Amino acid sequence: MAAYKVLVTGGCGYIGSHTSIDLLQKGFEVVSVDSLERSKAFVADRVSEISGKAFHNYAFDCRDYAQLRQVFTAHPDIRGIIHFAAYKAVGESVEQPLMYYDNNINSLINVLRVAEEFDVQDFVFSSSCSVYGNAAELPVSEATPLAEAESPYGRTKVISEKIIQEYSINSRMRFILLRYFNPTGAHTSGLLGEIPFGSPQNLIPVITETAIGRRASLTVFGDDYDTRDGSCIRDYIHVMDIAEAHTLGLQYLQSNRNTDQVEILNLGSGNGISVLEMIRSFESVTGRTLNYQIGPRREGDVIAVYADNSRAKKLLGWECKQGVDDMMRTAWAWEQRMQEENIREK
Ligand SMILES: NC(=O)c1ccc[n+]([C@@H]2O[C@H](COP(=O)([O-])OP(=O)(O)OC[C@H]3O[C@@H](n4cnc5c(N)ncnc54)[C@H](O)[C@@H]3O)[C@@H](O)[C@H]2O)c1
Repeated sequence: MAAYKVLVTGGCGYIGSHTSIDLLQKGFEVVSVDSLERSKAFVADRVSEISGKAFHNYAFDCRDYAQLRQVFTAHPDIRGIIHFAAYKAVGESVEQPLMYYDNNINSLINVLRVAEEFDVQDFVFSSSCSVYGNAAELPVSEATPLAEAESPYGRTKVISEKIIQEYSINSRMRFILLRYFNPTGAHTSGLLGEIPFGSPQNLIPVITETAIGRRASLTVFGDDYDTRDGSCIRDYIHVMDIAEAHTLGLQYLQSNRNTDQVEILNLGSGNGISVLEMIRSFESVTGRTLNYQIGPRREGDVIAVYADNSRAKKLLGWECKQGVDDMMRTAWAWEQRMQEENIREK
C-alpha cells in the first residue's frame, strides 16, 4: 500500500520540524510549506538528516492560494494536513494585532479551501492552551469553559477553532484540534531545536540564553503566589512528545477511530511545575549556577495552569516519554549547538 502523504504547513518551524521527523520515521511521506519567515532553510536538511528520509519544503506563504494549488497538483496523493503555520508571540500580537489576524486566520482559510478542492480527508490543527484564558478550574480539561482570550494571538486560536467547527458541519473532512500547553526542549539528536526570533519570552529559552551569557540574568516574576514555593506553575511538555501526538492523531483518523468529526485534545504533561523548580532542574542537570533574581509579579500572569491530558492518552494511546530533566538537557545541548554553529546568524 502506498505511504500516506501529509502536507505539513510550517514544517520548518519548531514543532513542525520535530513532527515531520516523527512522521517520516514512522513511514509517512511529508511535504512541507513554510515561508521560512520564522525559520531557516537549513532546517529542512536537518529533518532529512535525522530521519534519513526525503523531505522537501516549498518556501512560500500559505496565504498564496495559487501556490498551494500547485503543491496539490504536484502531489495529488496528499491525504492529510497538519497546519502549524502561524505567528505565535503573545507580546508581538498585542503590538501588531492585524498582522496576527491576517496571517493566522487567512492561512487557515486558504489551507481549508485547498483541502476541500483536493478532497483531503484528515486535518490536524495547532491550537493552544491560551484558548482557556485565565482558566477557572485545575487541571484544565477540554470541557473547561473557554475564557476571554488574553491576547490577539490567543483570540486567533479561538477564532480558528470556531472556523473549523463551523466549516466541519458541511464537510466530510475529519479534524483534530490539539491544544498545546508549553512545548519545550529540543531533539535528542542535538541537531535541531527552537530557533528564537526576536527576544524569546518563554522560560526555557530565557534560562538557556542566561546560562550561555546572551542575557546577564533572569527575573522570576513573583515568589509570593499561593503555590508550593511562591512562583507560578505551568505545564511544560517536551516537543518530541508533542510531535508524536500528531503522528498518533493522523493514525487515529486514518483508522476511523474518531467518534466526533472534530476531536479536541489537550497536549500537556499533566504536571504543574513551578518556575523555581524549573531553574533547579536546569542547575542540577547542567551543573551550572543560574544568575537569577526575584522580581515583582508581572501583570497578566496566570498563577497556575496545567492540563488534564487523559483524553489524549485514552483516544490516541499517547503518553509523555520525556520529563523536565530531559527538557532541560536537550534545550541546553541545543543552545550550545546554536552558539557553536552560529545558527541565529545563518
Ligand atoms: N511553541 C509554542 O509555545 C506553541 C504553543 C501553543 C501553540 N503553538 C502553535 O503551534 C504552531 C507551531 O508553533 P511553533 O512553535 O512551531 O512556531 P514556529 O514559529 O517555530 O513555526 C511556525 C512556522 O510557520 C512558518 N509560517 C508562519 N506563517 C506562515 C505562512 N503564512 N505561510 C507559510 N509559513 C508560515 C514560519 O516560518 C515558521 O517556520 C503555531 O500555530 C503556534 O501558534 C505553539
